[in-house]
Amino acid sequence: MIKVRGGERLCGEVPISGAKNAALPAIFASLLTTEPVIIHNVPRLADVETALDLIRNLGKEVVWRAETLEIRGGEELCWEAPAELVQRMRASFLCLGPLLARAGKAKVAMPGGCALGPRPVDFHLYGLAKLGASIIVKDGAVVAEAARLRGHMVYLDFPSVGATEQLLLAGALAEGETVVINPAREPEVVDLAELLRKMGAEVAWDGDRVRIRGRETLGGAEHTLIPDRIEAGTYLLAGAITHGRVRTIGAKPRHLAALLDRLSLAGCEVEFGENWVEVRGPTRPKPVDFRTWPYPGFPTDLQPPMVAFLTLAEGRSTVTETVYAARFGHVEPLLQMGAKIQVSGNVQVVEGVEQLRPAAVEATDIRAGAALVLAALAAPGESYVRGEHHLRRGYESFGEKLRRLGAKVWEEGD
Ligand code: EPZ
Repeated sequence: MIKVRGGERLCGEVPISGAKNAALPAIFASLLTTEPVIIHNVPRLADVETALDLIRNLGKEVVWRAETLEIRGGEELCWEAPAELVQRMRASFLCLGPLLARAGKAKVAMPGGCALGPRPVDFHLYGLAKLGASIIVKDGAVVAEAARLRGHMVYLDFPSVGATEQLLLAGALAEGETVVINPAREPEVVDLAELLRKMGAEVAWDGDRVRIRGRETLGGAEHTLIPDRIEAGTYLLAGAITHGRVRTIGAKPRHLAALLDRLSLAGCEVEFGENWVEVRGPTRPKPVDFRTWPYPGFPTDLQPPMVAFLTLAEGRSTVTETVYAARFGHVEPLLQMGAKIQVSGNVQVVEGVEQLRPAAVEATDIRAGAALVLAALAAPGESYVRGEHHLRRGYESFGEKLRRLGAKVWEEGD
């Protein structure tokens, strides 16, 4: 549980860690080779530990040295992923492609749904079948076989981050070229492609498609992960909601363009340089409409924290969630804090209020948790946010970084 004494303006600088959603696919990419893969700027997060537990179970050796991972070994990979680990974190499903490509066979549990609504993996399975895998779903697990994957053209009718990563990972060892049409272009996907290129695959972004030409075997590589744009956006919003002044160090402004555009519209002062962004919050935000959208659109992962900010605006904001069917876990708890939000379909209508009131609330996923902490920082008085384990999945040293900015927050275990 996190205790928050709200009402303080957050001011100062906060260093941004490596991107969780770049670290996870990079860890699974190490399954594609038996040579050492060195990954720098790795955030110490529960989800990263889960991914490392999984690849150790499959036969890899892992050494942490400060923020660097050294992953080696795995001559013989176990082709069955422990269901408990896959169920714990959806991104574990990314071990399917690499296992299939290396071991010719793979059994991976279907990832659970979560608070964001159903999260099928049909694009993943469709793509791997196009690469020649025979796939059956039995007892809640995917069993896939392929003597050798063969490159193919795969069209995604939604630019799914995970499905694009799955196909890049499998395509890196497939015979010939795989072309993904309508791929995801999130910076984390581009970062994975960069790592695969260093390992020997040929990857080219080509307008509305990405091409990857696989190799018989892939080599090791050394790679530094991009900074976490979602972590950065969360701290910038913490500054905005407390009409403070926060500067993130490390995140790339271009990765935050959609957020910074909307923060300016809301009356924030925004400045940025090569690797820093600074936001000064207004005494009261102006209402802002936005819709989430695949990159470079407004990131769905910043929708809940942005809604928390807009609950204090002087007017009505309309927020449309287009990526997930039901990303509204933050709404009920925000209502408990005095916010005025109405949800109809995938639209949240937020009527701004003067002030939020402190409350004891429950986080249901990583970004809903972040939204509730931000709201608590703005609400004068003591709030309690349960479900801190969600925050530990996605934010490295969350409490410590907030305290650096002057926040009165205490982590009291769950
Ligand atoms: C990644 O999830 C991120 N996770 C998510 O961040 C992020 O919200 C999401 O991309 C969108 O940007 C990681 O990178 C580990 P998708 P992913 O496949 O890959 C539907 C966080 O808090 N879909 O782009 O699962 C799906 O249901 C997490 O860090 C299918 O229908 O996202 C969803 O509605 C939360 N079939 C939409 O596409 C499929 O086969 C976007 O999913 C795959 C996806």
